[in-house]
Amino acid sequence: MGRPTAIVLGAAGGGGYPQWNCRCPVCQVAWAGDVRAKPRTQASLAVSADGQQWVLLNATPDLRAQLLATPALRPRSGLRSSPIAAIVLTGAEVDQVAGLLTLRERQDFTVFASSDTMAALNANPIFGVLAAGVVTRKIVARDDPFSLPGALAAELFAVPGKVALYLEGEDPALAAETGANVGVEIVCGSQRLVYVPGVAAMTAALRGRLARADVILFDATLFADDEMIKSGTGDKTGRRMGHMPLDGEDGTLAALAGLGGRRILTHINNTNPILIEGSAERRKVEQAGFEVAEDGMEIAL
Ligand code: MLT
Ligand code: MN
Ligand code: ZN
Repeated sequence: MGRPTAIVLGAAGGGGYPQWNCRCPVCQVAWAGDVRAKPRTQASLAVSADGQQWVLLNATPDLRAQLLATPALRPRSGLRSSPIAAIVLTGAEVDQVAGLLTLRERQDFTVFASSDTMAALNANPIFGVLAAGVVTRKIVARDDPFSLPGALAAELFAVPGKVALYLEGEDPALAAETGANVGVEIVCGSQRLVYVPGVAAMTAALRGRLARADVILFDATLFADDEMIKSGTGDKTGRRMGHMPLDGEDGTLAALAGLGGRRILTHINNTNPILIEGSAERRKVEQAGFEVAEDGMEIAL
């Protein structure tokens, strides 16, 4: 029997770090092979109570590389098998669902998602490669506890955010509390882990949820809200992308100040200077008591 553990499969935001087409100052450090800037795949977490059955939180386009890098997730018995028993989705963004296509070889597992996210999968015939009758799709309501394989309990909960980029219409709501963007709380024995890779704004209910958690993995897409505009890499603020920034009055560092559990930053965009060890921004988050997730990081529960 293994110990209750979470493994960070990937800690970068959409696109990964460095991003394939980017020469921004932060990506340049990684392209140069500088040891201060570890490459990261797109954000996902694997959780297990017993080391036997594993649950993935989101399935990124990097899933195959993540599985190759994670011995716990290799097939262990019979001719065809996998320790991956379930996937829980927090949304339908490319970096949250595209990895499902990697799991298409007639292996049974269950996908848990909100009705909004499941509707996005159901509407896209490419996900039919997860054959009905082999892969089970289960819709779960927010604030309604459900059981995961391997003695884990879970709950989806409201987190301000927006629909996936490819589903945005003309004028998308940016901090709506719908099923399109949710958080996951995993309960393992006496331990509570909260996974929220996309958070547009803090609410009292969300802070309450975080306050009772032993481990929080939280959205760290951008350090500064206007970071992509300033670096010329994009024309959107973090808030327009559905991600509150780390820094500033309404930022994550302030919003999560004083919480008791481990606070681990993940879903880090390639422009975010906290990716560079020793940078002023990295020191600022560390001094504020935050950890910066990296691929392969193991978290005891
Ligand atoms: C996001 O978190 O904002 C998305 O990953 C954006 C994207 O898929 O490009
Ligand atoms: Mn994302
Ligand atoms: Zn970059």
